[in-house]
Amino acid sequence: MAILKILQYPDERLHTVACRVDQVDDEIRQLVRDMAETMYAAQGVGLAATQVDVHRQVIVVDTSESKDRLQVFINPEILASCGEEESEEGCLSVPGIYEKVQRAEKITLNALNENGQPLTLEAEGFLAVCLQHEIDHLHGRVFVEHLSQLKQGRIRTKLKKRQRENL
Ligand code: NI
Repeated sequence: MAILKILQYPDERLHTVACRVDQVDDEIRQLVRDMAETMYAAQGVGLAATQVDVHRQVIVVDTSESKDRLQVFINPEILASCGEEESEEGCLSVPGIYEKVQRAEKITLNALNENGQPLTLEAEGFLAVCLQHEIDHLHGRVFVEHLSQLKQGRIRTKLKKRQRENL
């Protein structure tokens, strides 16, 4: 296993749209293992392949407190959503920034698991928010892009400054 480098906003590569996975093979399973290790090491609750500069539709999520319930979604697709919910979000690609974002309260999604088997999941609450956030990444969208242009500008400036200081 390996810990992968997480792209930092405003890196342009975060805007790449991920391709569907045709076949869930050993290479994809290796990616899943590396992504899980990277997510746990960074103490995140979710990670999309886009964030580690691999542009395939793969996400890993673990919203459990005990951090032992890894969920893998390959080619995730939201079939239905309802309600509205606003909650504070953060992102491993946007460190130190937490902002309120409006999302659907409940979603139904289709995906494949790491064995290539299809699954359908109904999610609500924190898991639903997390899945919508990660699926956005696969479409090249970072959560701050749900905010006003003014806020986005401020966040970009702040992160660029911090990245310069850390060089
Ligand atoms: Ni994120």
